[in-house]
Amino acid sequence: MVSFTEFLLPALFAFLFVPTASATPWPSTFQLNTHRTHYFSADKSLKLEAFHPESIFEAGFYLSRFGVEGVDPLPSYRQYPRDIPDLGSTALSFLASKLGISEGNILLRAIARGQVAQYVFVAQQINGIPIANAVANIAFNSNGMVSSLSSSLVKLSGSADINPSVSVGDATATAEKALKGTYNGHNTTLEFVVQPSGYAALSHVIQIQNDTAGTWYEAFIDAHDNTLLSVTDFVARASYRVLPIHELDPTQGFQTVVDPQDMTASPNGWHQEFSTTTDLTAGNNAIAYKGSQLINITVQTSDVLNFIYDVDLTQDPTSGTNVQAATTNAFYVVNTFHDFTYKYGFTETTFNFQTNDFNNGGQGFDRILVSVQDDYGINDAVFATPPDGQSGKMQLYLYVKFSPRRDSALQNDLVIHECQHGASNRMTGGGTARCFQTSESAGVAEGYADAMADWVSQGSTTADFVFGQYVSTGSTGLRNYAYSTSNVTNPLRYSSLNGMTDAHNMGEVWANTLHNVYAALVITKGWSTNALTDPTTNEGNVVWLHLFIDALLLQPCNPTFLNARDAWIQADANRYGGAHTCLLWVTFASRGFGVNATNFVDDISYPPDCDC
Ligand SMILES: *[C@@H]1O[C@H](CO)[C@@H](O)[C@H](O)[C@H]1NC(C)=O
Ligand SMILES: *[C@@H]1O[C@H](CO)[C@@H](O)[C@H](O)[C@H]1NC(C)=O
Ligand SMILES: *[C@@H]1O[C@H](CO)[C@@H](O)[C@H](O)[C@H]1NC(C)=O
Ligand SMILES: *[C@@H]1O[C@H](CO)[C@@H](O)[C@H](O)[C@H]1NC(C)=O
Ligand SMILES: *[C@@H]1O[C@H](CO)[C@@H](O)[C@H](O)[C@H]1NC(C)=O
Ligand SMILES: [Zn+2]
Repeated sequence: MVSFTEFLLPALFAFLFVPTASATPWPSTFQLNTHRTHYFSADKSLKLEAFHPESIFEAGFYLSRFGVEGVDPLPSYRQYPRDIPDLGSTALSFLASKLGISEGNILLRAIARGQVAQYVFVAQQINGIPIANAVANIAFNSNGMVSSLSSSLVKLSGSADINPSVSVGDATATAEKALKGTYNGHNTTLEFVVQPSGYAALSHVIQIQNDTAGTWYEAFIDAHDNTLLSVTDFVARASYRVLPIHELDPTQGFQTVVDPQDMTASPNGWHQEFSTTTDLTAGNNAIAYKGSQLINITVQTSDVLNFIYDVDLTQDPTSGTNVQAATTNAFYVVNTFHDFTYKYGFTETTFNFQTNDFNNGGQGFDRILVSVQDDYGINDAVFATPPDGQSGKMQLYLYVKFSPRRDSALQNDLVIHECQHGASNRMTGGGTARCFQTSESAGVAEGYADAMADWVSQGSTTADFVFGQYVSTGSTGLRNYAYSTSNVTNPLRYSSLNGMTDAHNMGEVWANTLHNVYAALVITKGWSTNALTDPTTNEGNVVWLHLFIDALLLQPCNPTFLNARDAWIQADANRYGGAHTCLLWVTFASRGFGVNATNFVDDISYPPDCDC
């Protein structure tokens, strides 16, 4: 068992300034956390190693003795009143004093007002120009205390002249050529990018898209030598394993659902944008359509707003009314996802996807575009998440190794998985969509996406969950294992990550760990039938989703698996006063994520207070 005092961090925030120069010769397992070697451009011919300075995550619960008073992490900072009048400047001066830097070195990027905490997102800056990959975020709990802080701010070894010597036009040409796509017209910005050496290079930031290839990038072009410095990949790709045998019949689940919209989350329903009402699969949260252009949006079958289309699974997805049925289903799933995550805290102010933000904060005009039976791919589904204010784009492809082909739009867990990519990318990092770019964090993102699909599928008794059954034929669906509390059915542990590089394989480890957390919460606290619409009760499935959403806002940019674990425990301190701290630790430890887990070596210990 861990010695408790040894586990406490001696000096919180003492080592936040990471000297990046010394970070370069790390072992390769550590580089999962800071680097990502990725094949970019339309034909994947461009190999680039992107660098993200290490994130430090200090969750306040580490100082709270894991006890029932978990919400009281940093008593010395209690001078902050309950209602902080100017959260932004309070956060900036707090950070500056804790990090021992001048307030002029950081700038405010975004504020998210959550349900039980407020989150401030900051970037390092030089002469008013932000450093894209040197960011920090801080959370204030409901008592106005700082409950956690994360930072990838760096000690610079030098920086480029702030006046670009390369024009935006020339930089755009370089970006288009390198990434084999076209500038999409979104305003370019000027930002620094810190290199592994600690040098801050100045860059033009330019969005490059290629719809044929299904790519959407943000290129950082050196504003002095016109070379490609770094790339953000906005597309979360899912490469699914598909076996060509007919197995699961989605007609078994088809029903007519009446008025599924939640008027708290979607005050004007699902078919109205501002004052315009449509009779199409189009509204404030999403627009679903066939194909790769914004045409052939499904129209109602009868007034008012009936979308009753038959599915014939013996026919191809493109024949008869199968297209409209699939579009209707995808529209229903994406809107339902919008509505229930809204109630748990994925709202306008935490950077969600809506055309009209009803003056509730955040950037509007970014509903999700849902392309059903998209022509630009097969055997897959993808979700591109640009920053808050630009629409997310879901592309659902056909699975062609079946006869007839199968439509991913009818696989609800797959659609939910893609929606969750959008939610994760928006909430972690404060709406920039830049915070799952390291190899390890890409695995964390895949894990969250499967875990959300798992949550949606569960009933009163926690069952093993097979992801992507209809578009696959193996007993474990599109993944290597079913998600399960049995370590025979699913043996994945923290140490399983060692040597893994594939984001989906890594994601399975996190999704299964969260499946185990879910099962433990439901066994202890019961299960609510109304969890999708009522987030105010205390059953296990409700608690789990609150922790999930809160953790997305708390965890650092490019989170490691251990950062994600800590964010869940801090989320519990913030919302429930640490009521589930021991349940969380014991469950995390049972899969190797114990208090001393590090470097992909399992640890099964949990705080001694948690002995039952
Ligand atoms: C956990 O780590 C601490 C400090 O590194 C060490 O003293 C302690 O023995 C470890 N506990 C276990 C159970 O390995
Ligand atoms: C977009 O991708 C396609 C397919 O890879 C390629 O043929 C085309 O040249 C690309 N477009 C641009 C503008 O590079
Ligand atoms: C883009 O830049 C122009 C000119 O600076 C500005 O007027 C416009 O508001 C910007 N658009 C967005 C979406 O930020
Ligand atoms: C859109 O619908 C029209 C008329 O029904 C049809 O001719 C066209 O092929 C459809 N386009 C796509 C991309 O499905
Ligand atoms: C698997 O679970 C059983 C109990 O369910 C336990 O006895 C066993 O030690 C576990 N094995 C591993 C490798 O954790
Ligand atoms: Zn995915």
